[in-house]
Amino acid sequence: MPTYPKSLLDLQFYSSQQIRDLFLKATQLKRTSAPTSSLGKTIALLFFEPSTRTRMSFESAAYRCGLGPMIFDGGPNTSLEKGETVEDSILNVAAMKPQIIVVRCKDEVQLNKLAAEIDIPIINAGWGVKGHPTQALLDAYTMFEAFTNLESKKLLIVGDIRHSRVAASHFELMPKLSVEVGICGPDHFLPEQAGVKVFKNLQLGLQWADAVMALRVQFERHADVQNLAGLEYKKKFGLNSKCLEAFRSDGIIMHPGPINHGIELETEVLSDPRCKIMQQVTNGVFIREAILREYYE
Ligand code: CP
Repeated sequence: MPTYPKSLLDLQFYSSQQIRDLFLKATQLKRTSAPTSSLGKTIALLFFEPSTRTRMSFESAAYRCGLGPMIFDGGPNTSLEKGETVEDSILNVAAMKPQIIVVRCKDEVQLNKLAAEIDIPIINAGWGVKGHPTQALLDAYTMFEAFTNLESKKLLIVGDIRHSRVAASHFELMPKLSVEVGICGPDHFLPEQAGVKVFKNLQLGLQWADAVMALRVQFERHADVQNLAGLEYKKKFGLNSKCLEAFRSDGIIMHPGPINHGIELETEVLSDPRCKIMQQVTNGVFIREAILREYYE
């Protein structure tokens, strides 16, 4: 075995034999690019928008599956800075042959086109306001743990529903599980959504629901934040211990995170025995592990 230079900073100290040996090794590795064990298998975690829970739970799930995470936190220190597009970044990472590509990105990115072009599964980890399917699945799983039978259960989603990719995925998912969905919030936060019950009054919604999920006010998607999510909003639609007296004692309280404390949810709610927000985070690891195993095993 030739002894290679301790570090590879330039090629001055590589012999031609060493280079030929590297070519041979690369050829062997390429021929066995689908190893039978998880050794050498990777997963690309491409986050072009900020994330804590989704990114880290996919990372944790990847380790549990034996997949090595290739993490891309889009922004400084990536070639996006040099003008490379998100689409080109995804195509280039795909060329490195991970088993799965997980992507969080803005609405404008043509994920569906890329998914059709690339022969590697792409998992949406939050796509603009279009959807966040793995979040909806972990929320539903949290409800399943609480109620076992989800048929005819009622989920009330409160807050900035119009700008929520989580809500968009729930509108797809919940009918498949025979869960009824209600929405509650001021008019400017409510979408035109067929098949859901609309509550203008939080107390009435809470009396109706088995599970309630508060959504983050998406400050980054509003110009006039103070008017949209100020004191009046908090008074009418914020979850707190007082208003939750109207909610059933065996119901569950959820929030996909991150929380705007004191706006859509008072911190005191986190100590309510019905609150499952941290359980949702834990469940995120296992739901995502289950998904990854479906895609690569
Ligand atoms: N719920 C969720 O998507 O959280 P992150 O933005 O932290 O991933």
